[in-house]
Amino acid sequence: MCGIVGYVGHRQALDVVLGGLHRLEYRGYDSAGVAVLDGAGALRVQRKAGRLANLEAQLDADGRQSFAGTAGMGHTRWATHGPPVDRNSHPHRDAAETVAVVHNGIIENFAELRAELEADGVELTSDTDTETAAHLIARVYATGDTAGDLEASVRTVCRRLEGAFTLVVTHADVPDKVVAARRSSPLVVGVGEGEHFVASDVAAFIEHTREAVELGQDQVVVITREGYEVTDFMGEPAQGKPFTVDWDLSAAEKGGHEYFMLKEIEEQPDALANTLRGHFHNGRITLDEQRLADQDLRDIDKVFVVACGSAYHSGLVAKYAIEHWCRLPVEVELASEFRYRDPVLDRDTLVVAVSQSGETMDTLEAVRHAREQKARVLAVCNTNGAQIPRESDAVLYTHAGPEIGVASTKAFLAQIAANYLVGLALAQARGTKYPDEVAREFADLASTPAAVQKTLATAAQVRALGREIADSKAVLFLGRHVGYPVALEGALKLKELAYMHAEGFAAGELKHGPIALIEQDLPVVVVMPSPKGRAVLHSKLVSNISEIQARGARTIVIAEEGDDAVRPYADSLIEIPATSTLLQPLVATVPLQILAAEIARSRGYDIDKPRNLAKSVTVE
Ligand code: AGP
Ligand code: GLU
Repeated sequence: MCGIVGYVGHRQALDVVLGGLHRLEYRGYDSAGVAVLDGAGALRVQRKAGRLANLEAQLDADGRQSFAGTAGMGHTRWATHGPPVDRNSHPHRDAAETVAVVHNGIIENFAELRAELEADGVELTSDTDTETAAHLIARVYATGDTAGDLEASVRTVCRRLEGAFTLVVTHADVPDKVVAARRSSPLVVGVGEGEHFVASDVAAFIEHTREAVELGQDQVVVITREGYEVTDFMGEPAQGKPFTVDWDLSAAEKGGHEYFMLKEIEEQPDALANTLRGHFHNGRITLDEQRLADQDLRDIDKVFVVACGSAYHSGLVAKYAIEHWCRLPVEVELASEFRYRDPVLDRDTLVVAVSQSGETMDTLEAVRHAREQKARVLAVCNTNGAQIPRESDAVLYTHAGPEIGVASTKAFLAQIAANYLVGLALAQARGTKYPDEVAREFADLASTPAAVQKTLATAAQVRALGREIADSKAVLFLGRHVGYPVALEGALKLKELAYMHAEGFAAGELKHGPIALIEQDLPVVVVMPSPKGRAVLHSKLVSNISEIQARGARTIVIAEEGDDAVRPYADSLIEIPATSTLLQPLVATVPLQILAAEIARSRGYDIDKPRNLAKSVTVE
């Protein structure tokens, strides 16, 4: 999920690679490293946790002249397997230090590969999944039937890897080439004059060339000074997709978008897929560093979810699933309120602390209070090695990648998916769902990236709607059941992005007061449940819509495609793909994110950095 640069050409590789990594810094990272082939059979590697400046200071201390060479690669890491410390930083090497590998993504079957390597006497020196690839490539290059052929060795190993990966590989014996491979993770080639590049993002090389080639699924590319060659994982010739980058550097960093948040909205299918990846093996749900045995989960008699903001809303969504699947009481608490109300906690309470940054002080203090009360704490976090997972009994990492926009989008969807994994792990351990039922629920969850991808197609319609209502003085959001937290999240997005008064309500509450707010042309967004789900909820919400339309509101309805019953009451109808009841928040939220961003853009606001807000609130 982070940054990768490879180079072969006529310039000093170290300068080109470091320059490229700096242009990838925007993506957020926790460590960095470089490898340079000096042309005389040496592979020079340096890597440091923290900012690029730490790495550069170390290179200066080492003496940059010892990193002379015109081929090399670099990496900025967003840790998924192992905390952000020097030994987990990339590049990773084999014991003989002949092969160096950098990697973006997740190698799902790393545990079995590690076990195989250890059984062969290989000593692994990091906690990462990546290191397994370095040892395997070195072994195949040295002894296999592809001995001495670096790209063939990389292909052989890629065929064994499961998961999502962009790998870049160098070998000390092959100083004039860099080999790269991709599966479900970005990789582009930069085509220069007497020099070629590989990178996770064109931003790394567009100061040198705007001629690029996008690689396809399961492809390998070899770059040399003279050119590049693409094959598939079986070694058959393949074609990448050439294109010319017509974005400036700033736009390139945002994937051609004006703002990171807009790019991150489009990254949500991948964020979901990467969060779910690797958590269902041999018919069982597995959490990351679960460290909570099935018996611990069976002893749980109450669940709290504590979080703030959007993370709190993800907890509200999870409540419906966990109570339905596990028959356990779930209380969802604002972290800032939790410890001050003296909650009833004990050893049999599971506290799920949800936090993108893992540094939110309100949530961290809630975790500390829960542990003082002997409750078991499981963190759901997007930042490996952050304080909240470090102080928790167990952690389930979301893999949304760095979220640059202050307003949470892809992290929010990933939090819902992760919370659902916790629910399924509880149901599995407690036997409230049979294995085949757990498998079906996971398969349903695993279908949501495609549903979210399809929902992104509503963007143009939603943006046009946003521009129409951009001058409204307020917008109300209504929902029922799992649509209620979605209404709250939609209101929060509009508040924090467009500084507009917005409020989310449980639709059933309308008649108990809020309906007094309804007036002519007031936009009211309604999140409709599936007509195939809780039919009673659907009909009640149709009644709610007719009540507010009768009072002049402008009804904007988010409804499942084909929901014809609601059409007469929708002044604007945004159709989303059909999903099962509990999964609807993953698709219904997307139009609300786009709506808020477009209204903010219409008002001329900075979508990535809204006023008064910080990405991580590290004070109480
Ligand atoms: C969401 O759009 C906000 N930026 C904010 O509510 C955020 O969700 C909240 O501060 C919690 O942050 P965390 O997930 O990093 O703990
Ligand atoms: N999974 C690898 C690690 O944790 C790569 C993470 C990344 O994409 O930066 O080191």
